[in-house]
Amino acid sequence: MIKIDVSNVISEQEIAKYQDKVQTINKMINERTGAGNDFLGWVDWPINYDKEELERLLKDAKYVRENFDVLVVAGIGGSYLGAKSAYDALKGMKDVSKPEIIFMGQTFSPNYTAQVLDYLKDKKFAINVISKSGTTTETSIAFRLLKNLLEEKVGKEEARKSIFAVTDRARGALKTLCNQEGYSTYVLPDDIGGRYSVLTPVGLFPLAAAGVDVKAMLEGAQEARKEFNNTDLKNNMCYRYAISRDYMYRHNHPVEMYVTYEPQMSQISEWLKQLFGESEGKEKKGLLPTSATFSTDLHSLGQFIQDGSPILFETILKIDNPNYDVTIPSTEDDLDGLNYLAGKKLSFVNEMAFQGTLKAHEVDGGVPCNVITIERMDAKTLGYLYYFFMRACAMSAYMLEINPFNQPGVEIYKKNMFHLLGKKGY
Ligand code: PA5
Repeated sequence: MIKIDVSNVISEQEIAKYQDKVQTINKMINERTGAGNDFLGWVDWPINYDKEELERLLKDAKYVRENFDVLVVAGIGGSYLGAKSAYDALKGMKDVSKPEIIFMGQTFSPNYTAQVLDYLKDKKFAINVISKSGTTTETSIAFRLLKNLLEEKVGKEEARKSIFAVTDRARGALKTLCNQEGYSTYVLPDDIGGRYSVLTPVGLFPLAAAGVDVKAMLEGAQEARKEFNNTDLKNNMCYRYAISRDYMYRHNHPVEMYVTYEPQMSQISEWLKQLFGESEGKEKKGLLPTSATFSTDLHSLGQFIQDGSPILFETILKIDNPNYDVTIPSTEDDLDGLNYLAGKKLSFVNEMAFQGTLKAHEVDGGVPCNVITIERMDAKTLGYLYYFFMRACAMSAYMLEINPFNQPGVEIYKKNMFHLLGKKGY
């Protein structure tokens, strides 16, 4: 489903030097002996997921599809980016099918929040609130606002049937609320952290409601799980990628830029930024993940990439066969000088832009580039890709001797904010 070329970043000789390290870490992942080992539930999740819960989820999702204009998904971080990235990647940016999926609770922005609430006033909408802790402020505020609006519109009883929650099995304010109100509730297992949860109900509920084949996503992840659990460094693409990152980090390239040529993939870059940034950025270590969408950003950041500080390497996610295509028409007068492209597809132009840019960056700019080629973007491939990156992330973080599954740094801003907001105990 995918291929990865790391040859511009690291040689086979250098890859081979990682053999012992990879052997040790792969064992640590499988036997759950490394730091944060109680958060490795995602490793076997593609085969261990709760089959009954999935059937219930598919039923509820069908109910949402058949009965609502809009599903509002309230969540942030790992409780948002997986679904958002998959939704964009699979449905595109201008999807008009029902229900429309709107994301809320990922911001305190009064402008965005007020506009969404206003838009919902005359829509038949359902709510999917997602929070593992059940106490995240952005999500909780959004849910309170949405719940109030819905109850005002349709009454408490009808609202109860239109709210679907994903949260911890037993803990948190959201769980208490769900028990009290009797909402249909799905579990984010204890041993899976937010940014590793895209293949759990966190990602699967909103995606199934959007009409995505979530069983195919799980199948893709199953294939990846089987394929990457080995230490054959000639063939294991996942670990070859992890090694290339570590090599860059140790050779003065502290910034990894995820590059796509499809705007609908840019949220995958956001998901990757969270996955790697929050997993590795600790103890004054870690690559800084950043992203760009080409050719758009070649007209802005392109200058820096080509000629600026030589601190970055690229990991390019390239799709071989787009789901849609457009042919460039010819005109009689050729006033815009484009007839040399008449009859050509935009996919061809995009491919030439990719090839030309790769050469410019690698050869002229001296920017090392990994290329991940995706045959075609579909649900199965995406499930495979998510698993590929999660496993690569665990391997990479353990190479840095870091716990990939905690995020102690994000608590500090919260404490300051709660103090300023006057929350009790802060
Ligand atoms: O990866 C993580 O753990 C975080 O990004 C969380 O997903 C994010 O903070 C949201 O947390 P919660 O699901 O508890 O609302």
